[in-house]
Amino acid sequence: MKEKLMSLKEKAYETFSEAKDLDTLNDLKIMFLGKKGELTQILRGMSKLAPEERPEIGKLANEIKEELEHKFLEKMQILKRELKQSKLKSEFIDVTIPTNVVLGHKHPLTLILDEIKEIFVGLGYEVVEGPEIETDYYNFEALNTPKDHPARDVQDTFYITNDILLRTQTSPVQVRTMERQKPPLKIIAPGRVFRSDAVDASHSPVFHQVEGLTVGTDITMGDLKGTLIKFIHEIFGKDRKARFRPHFFPFTEPSAEMDISCIACQGEGCRLCSNTGWLEILGCGMVHPNVLKMAGYDPEKVSGFAFGMGVERIALLKYGIDDMRLLYENNLHFLRQF
Ligand code: DAH
Repeated sequence: MKEKLMSLKEKAYETFSEAKDLDTLNDLKIMFLGKKGELTQILRGMSKLAPEERPEIGKLANEIKEELEHKFLEKMQILKRELKQSKLKSEFIDVTIPTNVVLGHKHPLTLILDEIKEIFVGLGYEVVEGPEIETDYYNFEALNTPKDHPARDVQDTFYITNDILLRTQTSPVQVRTMERQKPPLKIIAPGRVFRSDAVDASHSPVFHQVEGLTVGTDITMGDLKGTLIKFIHEIFGKDRKARFRPHFFPFTEPSAEMDISCIACQGEGCRLCSNTGWLEILGCGMVHPNVLKMAGYDPEKVSGFAFGMGVERIALLKYGIDDMRLLYENNLHFLRQF
């Protein structure tokens, strides 16, 4: 019986250590140590032993059982550790492996807008915003645009009620900023504007403007010209010539439109510039005393200049695009060029 026990022990030891996985190991445990297992079978034979032999055999059987259980636990730990290692190995993700994902990029309008902002921020301007849904007061009245002014034509303006509308220009942000801040100030206000225009190559009912306003003591037309020429040189290159043409805006006096030498023909005259050699690029002027007054500033003490430009127009000219609709259609063949 002793030999039977010893050989059982050896066999169990060997098979336990050879077990390749937890299931096999568990099966082996049941096979050797379970209720109907081999050890139990052997112990059944105890009754046939002489009484004086029993304690010795019983002790040996218990020792073997304990040893085997210990061996079983040890092997189980090893198998569990191996399982974890192989799982870690198979589930490993190398986040540094380059993928072939095509990265998106900024829309040409956003590129231009970012560039405009960067130029003016470099000149000490602060970027501010105003609401797209405006009151008649801020969009027109406070900008010295009286009730009968043609700019208020319902054909151009999207009215929501009598007094509320979608802003037709970013100029109302001038007034809102002056009401909030004391002079001196230098701000630009980028944003969407809305006009009841049909879509074509150069019109859209929704487009973008950047407004600019500088107010302080002794601000002159010379400051206006210096600032805007610097801007044009930054965005279109130092070779670009600029000129200021007298114009009319209700909220500036004097007012002007700024032209740049034609991008396509360098001033020779072509289809793009209608043979004038010049391209209109923005509106500007010295802030009208009435506008300063209505915003709570004293026109005797401070003066300022303002300007407003269409972002789409600048994008079209800078990138040589001949149809504004391309900027809104999100055709990837078009967008991927930028
Ligand atoms: N708000 C004008 C427009 O939409 C553009 C403009 C012209 C803005 C002259 C100005 C300015 O600030 O001084 O046509």
